[in-house]
Amino acid sequence: MARRDLPSMLVYARRWPLAGWLAYYALKLLGVEIPRSVEIGEEFYLVHGGVGVVIHPKTKIGNKVKIYPGVTLGRADVHKPVEESKFEGIIIEDDALLSPGAKVLGKAGVLKVAKGTVLGANAVLLESTKENEIWAGVPAKRVGMRQE
Ligand SMILES: CC(C)(COP(=O)(O)OP(=O)(O)OC[C@H]1O[C@@H](n2cnc3c(N)ncnc32)[C@H](O)[C@@H]1OP(=O)(O)O)[C@@H](O)C(=O)NCCC(=O)NCCS
Repeated sequence: MARRDLPSMLVYARRWPLAGWLAYYALKLLGVEIPRSVEIGEEFYLVHGGVGVVIHPKTKIGNKVKIYPGVTLGRADVHKPVEESKFEGIIIEDDALLSPGAKVLGKAGVLKVAKGTVLGANAVLLESTKENEIWAGVPAKRVGMRQE
């Protein structure tokens, strides 16, 4: 079932023609940066309004993904000109959960956060994960498996 909270509604409205720009800027006023190019599946949830969430334009997000405040998905090598970067994007698969303050930083190619991955609070993830793994720490390491 689709969420009825304002930030989540704006996330979907962002993709509408023309009015989508209004939704995009309204989200920015709420402290959430999700470019219109970011594809997002069903039942996306910005927990607690997702204040401080920043998502790179080359990101694709699956179904039932939960993102908490302060999460960043982006390019690791921001100190380099974008033309020199080998970063190609980030994929967040279905049922992933990104805890408060977590950062997902891709350097080369596509970084994939696999289905069901849990990323701990304030983790800095620099590599792809496998299904249902739990990652935490700086840099993030696998600390367990999710029990369904
Ligand atoms: C990552 C997390 C999901 C792991 O939970 P878990 O599977 O129960 O794992 P454990 O508590 O058994 O911890 C496993 C190991 O990871 C470490 N760890 C757990 N969370 C960590 C974190 N956020 N950062 C760094 N290390 C962490 C533990 O110290 C432990 O290390 P050890 O094996 O050396 O003792 C959880 O700790 C977490 O960060 N949840 C986020 C919840 C949150 O932010 N809630 C507020 C919402 S508003």
